Amino acid sequence: MTTVVVLASPEYARESEALAARLGCPLTGTPPPDAEFYLEYSQDRLQLCQTGAKAPGPVFVDFLEGKAAHRRRQGEGRKSSLARAVGMKPGFTPRVLDATAGLGRDAFVLATLGCEVHMVEQSPIVHALLEDGLRRAREAAELADIIGRLSLVQGNALPLLTALPADEYPHSIYLDPMYPHKGKAALAKKEMQSLQRLLGQDSQGPELLQLARRRARRRVAVKRPFRADFLGKLAPDFQIKGVKTRYDIYLPQAS
Ligand SMILES: C[S@@+](CC[C@H](N)C(=O)[O-])C[C@H]1O[C@@H](n2cnc3c(N)ncnc32)[C@H](O)[C@@H]1O
Repeated sequence: MTTVVVLASPEYARESEALAARLGCPLTGTPPPDAEFYLEYSQDRLQLCQTGAKAPGPVFVDFLEGKAAHRRRQGEGRKSSLARAVGMKPGFTPRVLDATAGLGRDAFVLATLGCEVHMVEQSPIVHALLEDGLRRAREAAELADIIGRLSLVQGNALPLLTALPADEYPHSIYLDPMYPHKGKAALAKKEMQSLQRLLGQDSQGPELLQLARRRARRRVAVKRPFRADFLGKLAPDFQIKGVKTRYDIYLPQAS
């Protein structure tokens, strides 16, 4: 089993202690030899670090700088494949439930385009990273509107969707389950490699898809690598294709 510890950064003693208690991880001064990952507060952010000589760099959520900011400034439009995948149209902006939130990148892009996005993330560690990214983004006045459209809960989307009251069914449910990245693509997605190593593969994707079709008012969009098989081997109603990614779209089914 993967061991994760929280590093007791002296400058962030209170935050480190609270995090270790919340996650049930040991709090330590230096990572023990059997720890494959450690979480640390550094430069006002929470980051997940992998140990070992060939480990990729730290994973953290940053909506202010880096790729997220670039995508926001470039103005990925309402006609982008992601926007069309969740059913955005002239005059219609869907309310989206992102049932596999991860690091919140897709949800952030959708919120940039005006969608209200409710994010669900089952891993307490990934959830903590995402929550920390939202905390920092909330401090930036220029992101206030976008962050105001995002909400986040920690938990497994299956029971959450099962218990969802009918008046809260979203227009669209977005699914991006973990998929094993191979070959050259993996080199470009080092942080995904770390997450994959930490979380393993998602095994509930097919079940989640079946349930999501009973909870979405208009559609379920499943993000897949371009050549990947269908989630749960279930052929979609139609597809929206991007350059490296495709979105398989499933229409709702009555419950
Ligand atoms: C590939 S990542 C999603 C990346 C995300 N789309 C982004 O833009 O950052 C998949 C995430 O889904 C989460 N996940 C998988 N099954 C889930 C479930 N049943 N409920 C909630 N989260 C789930 C995993 O923990 C993982 O963090």
